[in-house]
Amino acid sequence: MYTLHQYEDSNILATHYAKSFKAQLSRKAKINIALSGGSTPKLLFQHWATHYADSIDWTRLHFYWGDERCVSPKDEQSNYKMTQDLLLQHLHIPKANIHRIKGEKDPQKEAQRYSKEILKHVPLKNGLPQFDLILLGMGSDGHTASIFPHQMDLLEAPTICAVATHPDSGQKRITLTGPVLNNAQKVAFLITGASKQKVLSSILHEKRGWRQYPTAHIRPVGRLSYHLDKAALTGK
Ligand code: 6PG
Repeated sequence: MYTLHQYEDSNILATHYAKSFKAQLSRKAKINIALSGGSTPKLLFQHWATHYADSIDWTRLHFYWGDERCVSPKDEQSNYKMTQDLLLQHLHIPKANIHRIKGEKDPQKEAQRYSKEILKHVPLKNGLPQFDLILLGMGSDGHTASIFPHQMDLLEAPTICAVATHPDSGQKRITLTGPVLNNAQKVAFLITGASKQKVLSSILHEKRGWRQYPTAHIRPVGRLSYHLDKAALTGK
């Protein structure tokens, strides 16, 4: 089961999601959130930084990433850099709350190190770390985090993190694996843009071939929600 929320455009989506995020924020002293990368979350991050910097106690939040490109944190492709520039530098968050994937390190070693960091900070449930919230996006090929259609085995990987490879560029990525994504208390997909419509429709309506897309296999133990703009729903 999932809830679906549709919005006229990506700005309105970011505004509404930010509002519901604050309204539903747990009162726990420590909330573990894994962020998505790419371009979709940029508007949300900017909205959080502009309108919520002082109205949310960000010190209770620990930030992780669902995936990271194996590049320097200073590289424009870095999900961490994007998040630092648009959000984190504008909030009063202790450095200890920011759990960066070190994209500049050896991928296999970093996947192991990051798995250990998650185990140290994120409580276990069902024998796996359970994030309070995982924000995810979806590529036009149906990938999510850095689980791509040519690496469906990552959906069942026995490790917390794994090294993935972008199918076109060959770029190495570190990604959370399917079991961890599916162990989350909440997974929220933010999906925008006409290029996502075909795959998104296939997944939501379980059309022929829908199982080939990694996003289709994200069925968390907790709550699943899709936050979509009109373009992603209609292709226009
Ligand atoms: C990444 C993301 C990735 C992203 C999708 C959608 O590192 O690129 O984590 O999974 O969410 O590719 O990207 P857009 O939001 O740019 O369409």
